[in-house]
Amino acid sequence: MATATLGNLTAIIALLITVATAASDAPPGTGYTNHTVGGAAGWFFNGTANTSATNYSSWAGSLAFNLGDFLIFNTNSNTTVIQTYNDTTYLSCTMDDAEDDDTTQYNGGSTQFGDKMTVAVPLTIEGPNYYFSDANDGVQCQQGMAFEIQVKHGLGLPPSLNQPPPPPYIEPPGPDSVQSPPVSISQNGAIRGGANVGGVLCALLTVSVLF
Ligand SMILES: *[C@@H]1O[C@H](CO)[C@@H](O)[C@H](O)[C@H]1NC(C)=O
Ligand SMILES: *[C@@H]1O[C@H](CO)[C@@H](O)[C@H](O)[C@H]1NC(C)=O
Ligand SMILES: *[C@@H]1O[C@H](CO)[C@@H](O)[C@H](O)[C@H]1NC(C)=O
Ligand SMILES: *[C@@H]1O[C@H](CO)[C@@H](O)[C@H](O)[C@H]1NC(C)=O
Ligand SMILES: *[C@@H]1O[C@H](CO)[C@@H](O)[C@H](O)[C@H]1NC(C)=O
Ligand SMILES: *[C@@H]1O[C@H](CO)[C@@H](O)[C@H](O)[C@H]1NC(C)=O
Repeated sequence: MATATLGNLTAIIALLITVATAASDAPPGTGYTNHTVGGAAGWFFNGTANTSATNYSSWAGSLAFNLGDFLIFNTNSNTTVIQTYNDTTYLSCTMDDAEDDDTTQYNGGSTQFGDKMTVAVPLTIEGPNYYFSDANDGVQCQQGMAFEIQVKHGLGLPPSLNQPPPPPYIEPPGPDSVQSPPVSISQNGAIRGGANVGGVLCALLTVSVLF
């Protein structure tokens, strides 16, 4: 009995040491960070000099990025903001051949040059994340409007970002269609999908506490 209690105590102390070590390895700070891309220079291309406003690789290289952080692009409608997880797309400087599930354009819709805009991009996937502007037929990207970051787990996604994306829009059925029951089934499926993602996130959080 006494031996078993001592054993338990040893196990608890070992666990406490592990948790303390993990905490000291954790990134500094307890919240999420908004990183202003390029710092004061922003996300701009100088067409006269044919070069980016700053060296974005070197800007990114000095920072740590975690899930739940945002990249804030202070820019204008002369550039684009494209996020991809696919290095082939990144290196190509175009999203023409990109797949929908790994590449997103965050701005657009402006019909004229030079409109000021701010684009906030949440970091929701760990690992390599790539960004570029494909404007001027890819020349902006080729001339420096491109960078890569490594997103770490950090605190994990906050509740505001851990929901799965909404299911794709489906044309409502016409009046003489008998499609209404399948629609409600697909809604149940989406809710169940959300619960599963929550479960995985819980498991990930538990694992990150233990290690
Ligand atoms: C970071 O940016 C997001 C998106 O614009 C915003 O919702 C959030 O409040 C910002 N967080 C901080 C700490 O500024
Ligand atoms: C763009 O580059 C040109 C030539 O190098 C320079 O004279 C000009 O000041 C730059 N414009 C901006 C907004 O930095
Ligand atoms: C800018 O650089 C690209 C090479 O990436 C070149 O093809 C283009 O002609 C240059 N444009 C100007 C205005 O110098
Ligand atoms: C930008 O900085 C990176 C390293 O931080 C360097 O390797 C690269 O050559 C720089 N690019 C330019 C165009 O100066
Ligand atoms: C990356 O994108 C290219 C198209 O640009 C596609 O052929 C390739 O399969 C993608 N890679 C992965 C790992 O999805
Ligand atoms: C935006 O692009 C237009 C057309 O190329 C150019 O005249 C203008 O100077 C650019 N503005 C900025 C702020 O880069």
